[in-house]
Amino acid sequence: MSITILGIESSCDDTSAAIIKDGYLLSNVIANQDVHKAFGGVVPELASRAHQQNIIPVVDQAVKRANISKNDIDAIAFTRGPGLLGSLLVGTSFAKSFSLAMDIPLVEVNHLQAHILVHFIKDIEKDKKIPEFPFLCLLVSGGHTQIVKVTNYLEMEIIGQTIDDAAGEAFDKCAKAIGLPYPGGPLIDKNAQQGNKDAFSFSKPRIKNLDYSFSGLKTSFLYFIRDSIKTNPDFVKENMFDISASIQHTIIEILMDKLEKAVKGTGIKQIAIAGGVSANSGLRNAIQERALNLGWETFIPEFKFTTDNAAMIAITGYYKYLNKEFASQDIAPLARFPY
Ligand code: KG4
Ligand code: ZN
Repeated sequence: MSITILGIESSCDDTSAAIIKDGYLLSNVIANQDVHKAFGGVVPELASRAHQQNIIPVVDQAVKRANISKNDIDAIAFTRGPGLLGSLLVGTSFAKSFSLAMDIPLVEVNHLQAHILVHFIKDIEKDKKIPEFPFLCLLVSGGHTQIVKVTNYLEMEIIGQTIDDAAGEAFDKCAKAIGLPYPGGPLIDKNAQQGNKDAFSFSKPRIKNLDYSFSGLKTSFLYFIRDSIKTNPDFVKENMFDISASIQHTIIEILMDKLEKAVKGTGIKQIAIAGGVSANSGLRNAIQERALNLGWETFIPEFKFTTDNAAMIAITGYYKYLNKEFASQDIAPLARFPY
């Protein structure tokens, strides 16, 4: 029997709907919200409003592009959290109504677990290598930075995580300090490709276990820029590429140090990356370099699955459906959602 899942993602500033049939992706529609650009970050109330406007057309497009009918959908999966509460409420309310109207099961999904499960989305056009259990996943996004031990599709344990800022947040805040618009991570990445990563050095945190910290780096970067501008007002303009390459290199070194430690500690050499920051070319290169030098088997997601999307919600919903893990109609979203 074949299973078709509609996935809904609305945790932050992307409204997305996707259709997955038997693990194969049929459609994945994402509406980005440009409205936040002028504010240098996501404005929660504007995000909720944009989700409310986008949700129906996005779902409609996802069903059309998948070339199916609404009646072919066996279950609806939605992001319950973590995320912005107002944004999550839009997706949750839509999913509950759709489940009720179509008389199909409702499946709640943890956004972070979903980022990891992108590695299991199948492609009709090509075969793709998938990780074997157990594997480690470095999950790096705008809100989270974690090393996760994945023992099965829905069995995951966080073995290290940030105690303050996330890696994506570090990218975005440093980018803002040098005048780049939000989200600055991709722009730092682009600039870094033309810069010298050793031009400037920044101190790294000293934390004993597998946890991360990025707030100290952010502060020392802000002071460095402030002091450099005092002596040369054009410092940033003249050194944009080198500054970008150096800060990117430092963030990646911090991420890789703990990941290497996790590999040593667990003996697991199947390594995946996921989340928005996994689009970063420096991080992708660093992981591939470890594959060559340390014998890791690495799994790097396609760009379209790195940042927020509903395909990841639908694939997680698919595995929960197989496990018969359904939600009831009184479910509410959670801004914080540990797993
Ligand atoms: O996973 P995501 O779309 O949203 C969250 O769940 O947070 O991640 C967004 C984050 C932003 O901080 C963005 O700057 C960062 O991912 N990002 C990047 C790159 N592409 C996206 N950071 C560095 N280099 C990139 N190429
Ligand atoms: Zn995300």
